[in-house]
Amino acid sequence: ADPDPLQDFCVADLNSSASVNGFPCKPSSEVTSSDFFFDGFTKEGNVSNVFGLRVTSANVLSFPGLNTLGMSMNRVEFAPGGLNSPHSHPRATELGVVVQGKLLVGLVTTSNVFYSKEVGPGELFVIPRGLVHFQRNIGEGKALSFTAFNSQLPGAVFTAPTLFAATPTVPNEVLTQAFQVDENVVNQIKSKFGT
Ligand code: GLV
Ligand code: MN
Repeated sequence: ADPDPLQDFCVADLNSSASVNGFPCKPSSEVTSSDFFFDGFTKEGNVSNVFGLRVTSANVLSFPGLNTLGMSMNRVEFAPGGLNSPHSHPRATELGVVVQGKLLVGLVTTSNVFYSKEVGPGELFVIPRGLVHFQRNIGEGKALSFTAFNSQLPGAVFTAPTLFAATPTVPNEVLTQAFQVDENVVNQIKSKFGT
């Protein structure tokens, strides 16, 4: 989904304050082998949190060599019962592979049609750009998957915190009307997200 590159590479200069669509390139005299490699997926992540989830991102911010190349990946780890809660990526389609365990992968179209499948090791799933989706570990043990994106920075809009944990807060009248619930329900959800 990102624009095509106009040169071999353009390793991001994350410190530059220049404003462009992406990041300016660091001078090629400063580019080294390490700009083309990333070892952030080698370690097991900590999944002791309320969602039983750890997402490690290899995007332009953590792996500046990806700048202008239109690709990125995540390592996604789940505790038993862990959930990657409903979210969407505004700038990319997602292609995922399960390496270990069993995930329930679901997505919802713009017509509110729900598609889902139990996905096991070696099996792939695709999430069309912008559609809301989730993964839940429905296996006995831990689960591990990798996801790839056709953007250097796909972005992630998480449905619940977008509406209930925004700063400043989204007005309660909007949320009670949108979800057709009482204000105490809205306040309860907001409190779960620490707002
Ligand atoms: C999974 O949905 C991911 O965004 O990595
Ligand atoms: Mn996703």
